[in-house]
This record gives sequence, structure tokens and C-alpha cells, in this order.
Amino acid sequence: MAEKRKPDVITPQELYQSRRKFLKTSLTYSSAAALLAACQPATLTPTPPAGTPSSMSDELGNPTTSEEDITGFTNYYEFSSNKKQPTELAADFVTQPWTVQIGGLVKKPQEILVSDLKQQFNLIDRIYRMRCVEAWSMVIPWSGILLKDLLDAVQPTTAAKYIRFEGTFDPDQMPGQNYSTYPWPYVEGLRLDEAMHDLTLLATGIYGKDLAPQNGAPIRLVVPWKYGFKSIKAIKKIDLVEEMPTSFWMALSSREYGFYANVNPNVPHPRWSQASEQRIGETGRRDTLLFNGYDEVANLYTGMDLSVDF
Ligand code: MTE
Repeated sequence: MAEKRKPDVITPQELYQSRRKFLKTSLTYSSAAALLAACQPATLTPTPPAGTPSSMSDELGNPTTSEEDITGFTNYYEFSSNKKQPTELAADFVTQPWTVQIGGLVKKPQEILVSDLKQQFNLIDRIYRMRCVEAWSMVIPWSGILLKDLLDAVQPTTAAKYIRFEGTFDPDQMPGQNYSTYPWPYVEGLRLDEAMHDLTLLATGIYGKDLAPQNGAPIRLVVPWKYGFKSIKAIKKIDLVEEMPTSFWMALSSREYGFYANVNPNVPHPRWSQASEQRIGETGRRDTLLFNGYDEVANLYTGMDLSVDF
């Protein structure tokens, strides 16, 4: 690989430690490097591309990140751990037709086409900050539906306590899934009350267009007060369950990536501080806000020790 890259901060320590063995046993050097190394957060385009409305900002007055940066700098391990590669590698990823199965502890399980889902439910626009666990952030203008609306339609039973989301498994189209180093498919989870919160979206678009493949087309989760890894891309299955699901990153390193993953400047990641972040497109760093600035979710965690349930 011509470009010299620094280690990817989201890659768990265990993976680094097993790297030598891993290199000998599973992969050639270049393919291993592609999985285990990626770009550090970088300042990309400082100004929005032509045609981007310049007045768009979040409720705190932060301007939206340029479409070019949102679509050009992505985390999508099914394609690559290098943040610039998914744009090209996912370009031909087939996202239509696409069905999502919703089942488990519900009274009305459904299998629904994303195209129907967009007709059936109220499509809304929301500008949210997204804070990656790696300490970079963006401000993204999403469109999508409230997850709550879909959950109301399938009617969770009283036994349902959590939601388990499963991404697609398609190694023919997703080169990263040919490496068994990762516990594919990508899985995430939320507590039912988090999933029902008015901020929680199932997103289908950015900047008024359908999601680009590298951003998780055709449908992904967006939970703005949690680290970005909770916002699972290319969802195929949503199950209401009784027990807390084990997420992809928990399975890799539960010490580093907890179930709750609420943005919290006071709880450092074992390998770096979470006190500040780099907003892509800006120079310098800014303070990270508790719950990423979405104080209205604080009451979901009353009585919990957020350094234990991190
Ligand atoms: N979903 C899937 N299926 N695969 C992934 O690798 N990466 C996560 C999350 N969702 C990821 C995923 C991480 S680490 C982040 S920060 C966000 O997606 C990034 O979203 P973006 O690439 O659209 O900015």
C-alpha cells in the first residue's frame, strides 16, 4: 500500500495484539493492512460544494458539513476500514429492491420494502450532529422516518425490552465481509425507550437525496446522542427482544465499546480522551457535549452510573 496510514482508532486493541498471528494465518499483508489500518480524522473540504444551501445549520447554529465530506469520509467496515474507500467500493452496491424484516416480540410482524415504508410513514427532515467514537464529528441533514412510527405499527408485546438491528450479509458485494476477523453481520441494539424517543430516526436520505451507498443506503439508524457506531447502516432485520443484544463492537471489545455508547466527554475511551472532537471541515478542536448536546435524553438514564453503563 503506497499511502502510509496510522492505525485506525476504532479497531480494538485485541485486533492489534493478534495482528502478527492474524497476518501469518489469515491474510496477505496488503489485505490485512486494508482491514486494520485507516485514515485518521482529517480536515477535508472547508467550504460546502456549489449549490449547497449555506444557511443550513443545527439548533445550536453549527453549519451542516458539506455533502462532499459526508459522502467522501465514511466508516463502513463491510467495504473497507479506510474511510475514503467505501465511496468507490460501494458505488455498485445494489440497494433496490430492499426489504426489511421486523419481527421478534411484536403482534404484527412485517416484511416491508423500503420504497413502501417511505410511502407509508411520515418522512421528516432533521439536522443532527454525529459524533464518532474516534473523536471526529459532522453535522448532517437527514431525511427519514421516526423509528417510533414503525414500532407503533408492529406493536411490541409487553415482553419486548430491547431492539436488535442486523445489517446485511452479502460478501459477494461487500469485500470486508470476506474477512472472518469481524463478527459479521453488523449488529446494533437499543433499549426500547431509546428506540421510541422522538430523536431516533430510520434515515433514508441526506441533503434531500436518497442515501449514498457508502452512507448506509437504503436505510440506516440514526441515534444522534450516541457515538456514530450505534447508527447501523444497510439494515435488513429489526427484532424486538427481551435480552440486551450483543453489538458488533461489543463482540469485538466490550471493554472499549459499551452497549449504551452515549456521547460523554467525562468517560474516556480506554485508549483516548473523549473530551474534545474535530468537526470535519473545521480546523482546531471543539469541546464534546454530554449526550452530544441532546440534553432532552438525560431522563432516559436517571439513576444510572454512565461510567459503568458506558
Ligand atoms: N454500519 C455498518 N453496517 N457498518 C459500519 O462499519 N460504521 C459505524 C456506523 N454504522 C458502520 C455502520 C460508524 S463507526 C460510524 S462513525 C457511522 O456509521 C458513520 O456513518 P457515516 O459513514 O455515514 O458518516
